This record gives sequence, C-alpha cells and structure tokens, in this order.
Amino acid sequence: MDQPREQQLSEPSPGGSGGPPETPAASPGDVFDEILKRGSQLYKGSLRPLQEDYVPSRLLHRDTEIRDVLRVLAPAVRGNLPSHLFIYGKVGTGKSAVVTQVQKEFAKRLPADAKVTFLNLNCANVNGEYAVLQNLANQIVQKGLSDEDMIPTGWSQDRVYQALCRLSDKRGGVLLLVLDEIDCLGKSGGTDAGTSILYTLAQINRDLKEARVGIIGISNDLQFAQRLDARVKSRLSEEKVSFAPYTQPQLRDILKERAAEVFVEGALDNEALDRCALYAAQDHGDARRALALLRKSAEVADQLSSHTIRSEHVIHAKNKLELDVIADCVRKLTLQHKILLWVVISLSEKRRGEGVSMGEVYHGYSTLCHQLGHKPLGTRTVADYVTEFETLGLVHTEIHSGGRRGRTRLISSAVPSHETLRVLEEDPTLRPLSRQRTFGQTDLWRFDGQTPGERRTGSAPRSSGPGPDGLTPIPE
Ligand SMILES: Nc1ncnc2c1ncn2[C@@H]1O[C@H](COP(=O)(O)OP(=O)(O)OP(=O)(O)O)[C@@H](O)[C@H]1O
Ligand SMILES: [Mg+2]
Repeated sequence: MDQPREQQLSEPSPGGSGGPPETPAASPGDVFDEILKRGSQLYKGSLRPLQEDYVPSRLLHRDTEIRDVLRVLAPAVRGNLPSHLFIYGKVGTGKSAVVTQVQKEFAKRLPADAKVTFLNLNCANVNGEYAVLQNLANQIVQKGLSDEDMIPTGWSQDRVYQALCRLSDKRGGVLLLVLDEIDCLGKSGGTDAGTSILYTLAQINRDLKEARVGIIGISNDLQFAQRLDARVKSRLSEEKVSFAPYTQPQLRDILKERAAEVFVEGALDNEALDRCALYAAQDHGDARRALALLRKSAEVADQLSSHTIRSEHVIHAKNKLELDVIADCVRKLTLQHKILLWVVISLSEKRRGEGVSMGEVYHGYSTLCHQLGHKPLGTRTVADYVTEFETLGLVHTEIHSGGRRGRTRLISSAVPSHETLRVLEEDPTLRPLSRQRTFGQTDLWRFDGQTPGERRTGSAPRSSGPGPDGLTPIPE
C-alpha cells in the first residue's frame, strides 16, 4: 500500500516551529483538537490519556507505595485517627497520582457507616495561612457537608479557624487533609517554612469535639522536612513514605500502557518507546517528562504525516522540549542579561565552544551596550550575572590556571547557539543583530546597527565607538 510521503524533519526551534506551519499561540487543548480534526493516522480517538492531569485507572510499579499509604490511613476506616503522613520523592514519581488512587480505593471500599472525608489542597495555589484555613473550611461547605454559607474574605483569621473547627465537627468522623506541594506553604508565608500553619493544623484536634483531623503532606523538596521547626517536624513526620525515581524498564511499562490507550496498534515503534523511556530515566526517572516526551513525539510524527512514531521523532521532540525550557528561561531575562548572554553565546560560538575569558566577555558586552545605546553595568555586576547564568544552566564556567593568561575564569555557552540567539533577538533592542547574523556578520566588532546595504552606501554609523566604521574591536 502506498504510504503518503512524509515531510522532512526540520531544525527544531523554540515554540515548536520546526516542521510544518502551526497555529499561532494555540493552547495545548487547541492543539489536541486540531490534531483530532485533521484525522491523524496515529490516534484511536481521545488523546485525554496523554494529558498531564489524566490519572490512569491503575498505576504501574507503585503497588508497594499504595499499600504503604493505605496501611497508614487504614485506622480511619474504623473511625480512628491515623498518624500524620509525610510523602516525599522527586518530581514525577507518582506521589500525587498515588494519593488520588488511594482516595478512589477509600471511596470504593469504605463501609457505609464509616465517615472519612478527604480535603485536597495544592499549597502552590494558596497564599498564606488565612487562605489555607478558608479554603479547607469552604471545601467542607462545597461538598454539601454543611448547610452553612461559604466563608467570606474579611473575617479575622481566628474566626475562620473557629469556623473550620465548627464545620469539621458538624461533619464528624475522620478528616484527612491532603496538603500537596506542602513545601510551598513556607514560600508564600515568609521565613517560617510553613511552620505556623502546619503547627495550627497539627494541633487542631485539641479544639475538636466530634471530628479528628489527620494530615497527609506531599513534597518533592527533600530538604523540606529538615527546614521545619522541630515541633512541627516530629508531628508531621509520624509516618513517612518515600518514592524512588522510576527506572527505565518501569517507565517503558508506564508509557506502553498509556500508548495502548491512545495510539492505533503498531503506531509506536519499539525503538521509539525504548528511547522515550531511556531519556526520561536519564532525566531523574520522571514519569511526567516521559509522558510529555511521548506526547511531543506523537505530535512531531503526526505533523510529518507519519504512520508510526519512530526513534528520530523522539530525538526531535526531545530537542524541542529542551529548547522550550531554554526559551522560556531566556525570554524572562532582563535586557542587560540578554545583551550579556548574546555576547557570551556569540563569542563562544566563534571560539567553537572553547572558553572565553571574563575580560573578553566584558569588553564585548560593553561594546555592544554602547552600540545599542545602553549604559553598560560594572564588571562586578556582570560577573554576578555570569554566575546567575551558570545556575540557570545557560553557561559553563571553568577556572583556568597557568599559561599566558594566569588564573582566568573561562566561560562557554551551554545552550544551542543558533536557536537561543534567535530567542534573544525577539527582543526589539536586540532585533537588529539577527540581520547581522543572517548576512553572515556574526562578529561582534562588526556590529554597527546598520544593514550591509546601508554600510555600502556610506551612511554614518550609529555607534560612537572608535575604529574603522565606528566599530570597536574585541581583543582575541
Ligand atoms: N505508576 C504510574 N503509572 C502511570 N502513570 C503514572 C505513574 N506515576 C506517575 N504517572 C503519571 O505521571 C504524571 C506525574 O505523576 P504525579 O503528578 O503523581 O507526580 P508527582 O510525584 O506528584 O510529581 P510532583 O512532585 O511534580 O508533584 C501524572 O500524569 C501521572 O498520571
Ligand atoms: Mg504532585
């Protein structure tokens, strides 16, 4: 049978513009609908199982963790208060999914006379102690467990706390507070690492008559418990369950099962599946990243009208995902950071990845600042910016001792040059530089803010810098 000719893979670019044309600024939902409408050859029907918030009916390779969590919470079934539980593990290791699964088990198997109520709060979405108390109390109202009105903003914190106690007692039985991303409590509330609200909640049973409250804290910040005040730490970590990163074979199984729900038989090549699992295993065993990679690989294959998702599609998708992360980070930089990064990448590219000294970087940066009409920052600030770039993974630095240069800090780019320069040149101030590169004039000292055509006609250079054509040379 004749297969439609596949389009060629093109250079991945930030924002996923490699390959065929795409809808501008489409939301993930739109992209999914668009793919479905085009009658893809890969998908069976709904793409829902590939979406981030989808929780599959069974979680592979988490039986032990599910059992451990259920064992800790089991006393609640008989109306007894379970120990507070702290669940921790790296990003994408299935912590939230397991707790959702456990809640489903409770809903399925709970005897009719048992009263166990889960209240779920993602701490990343609430700001401060007041909001936590108000949200929990309102969940009880929203669940129809009380005929009271929702708690308005404007009450004193103490009154909200009293309302939470009253509502909990009206509900009675055991209330289990699932505080996901619990480490975020400290971030919004100042320096106490969330101690204050956690202390309040850990003590709430003293103020309750009919209900008992247990806390299930979830975090991927392995240091979080260490930062807590000792009083809270000992209460909160009565029981702990840790989640290990998924291994490559485990990720393969997870992906395979998801793929079977979404793709037509044979659409996912075995090598492609292995590669997805391998990349995700190297990337801290994160199931979320594995699924995102599979989703993107399918998108790439689909855009190329391919009948199968193959290894090269996964490689392309991985580059795209990495580039998306870099592009997001670069777009958020200040103008001065962007000018500096442009210089570092350009010089690094010119040296073919060999390190460039701090002095050369500073010279290039201040030259470019003058030519762009901006006042350069001092050497110390620029050195700090380079350290920030290193923390963000945008550059590598290395101390080089000896030789003609003595002891020098050598800087090199850690990102794909061409694509990152393109993102930097989205900034209106840096946009003229993209023309220079298009015309093959990437050397910094040639930049004078003019197109080559303008220079040929002898227009006056915009820069006030010294040298022929008003261009300031950068020493090698
Ligand atoms: N064992 C598994 N089987 C199938 N899918 C899984 C499994 N573990 C995780 N997933 C999926 O991977 C994604 C990430 O899982 P989850 O959100 O539970 O991770 P997490 O440990 O809570 O991560 P974070 O620390 O970032 O909150 C979800 O889409 C989830 O459905
Ligand atoms: Mg989670």
